[in-house]
Amino acid sequence: MSKVVLVTGATGRQGSATIDALLDQKEEDFTILAVTRDLTTTTAKNLASKSSSIRLIEGDLDDVPSLFRQAQKWAGAPIWGVYSVQVSMGKDVTSEREVRQGKALIDESIKIGVNHFVYSSVERGGDEASWNNPTPIPHFRTKYDIEHHLRDSTAAGKPGEHMGWTILRPVAVRNPTSLYYITRDIWSKPTTYPLHYGHQYTNTLGSS
Ligand SMILES: NC(=O)c1ccc[n+]([C@@H]2O[C@H](COP(=O)([O-])OP(=O)(O)OC[C@H]3O[C@@H](n4cnc5c(N)ncnc54)[C@H](OP(=O)(O)O)[C@@H]3O)[C@@H](O)[C@H]2O)c1
Repeated sequence: MSKVVLVTGATGRQGSATIDALLDQKEEDFTILAVTRDLTTTTAKNLASKSSSIRLIEGDLDDVPSLFRQAQKWAGAPIWGVYSVQVSMGKDVTSEREVRQGKALIDESIKIGVNHFVYSSVERGGDEASWNNPTPIPHFRTKYDIEHHLRDSTAAGKPGEHMGWTILRPVAVRNPTSLYYITRDIWSKPTTYPLHYGHQYTNTLGSS
């Protein structure tokens, strides 16, 4: 039976890459609920035309309960997985808003019994260090807060204890110029410059 996965940021970089990866899976069959605020954009329409497994869901992360109601209406089966990404920069975007959206997605996913939740965060110094390091960067601190909310609300004895989760922590890449400096430094100090794409941290429930 097809697993239903709700993907936020579906028309953006991360969400669309996630959808491509889900479509490429050979062993599993997924129904993808692709969230966008506007079904009529060319990006949204192009996304939907990629596969009959994709269904566009109109919704806003500022109103997650209504977004989930809309998604459940179209799902035809329980929502098995959620991919969560929020924007951290742009018009009307604030740290408080990013945190509110991120936490609301976790709370609502727990409420409806999602099996596995994937949160796209940011790398803050390695697997364990990231848990204790919000950093002074506003859009890293937001992700630290959301990560802790995810871990706390799925701890043993909490309503979310049966929800598995994965936190992805990609490293931040500012722009091609910083990539140039990073690449230059790798060659000059190859053993002291630990460049990597980030980490993944999964709780003990895994993703079965
Ligand atoms: N660049 C880096 O090096 C790096 C590294 C690590 C982490 N990150 C993080 O990556 C995140 C951004 O991801 P991205 O690059 O994939 O974003 P993006 O390409 O800018 O796409 C943003 C997506 O968010 C959706 N969206 C925006 N506001 C929404 C709302 N209120 N409700 C529902 N959907 C909304 C947009 O959908 P519609 O417009 O269709 O509604 C769009 O699909 C940030 O949190 C950033 O900190 C970036």
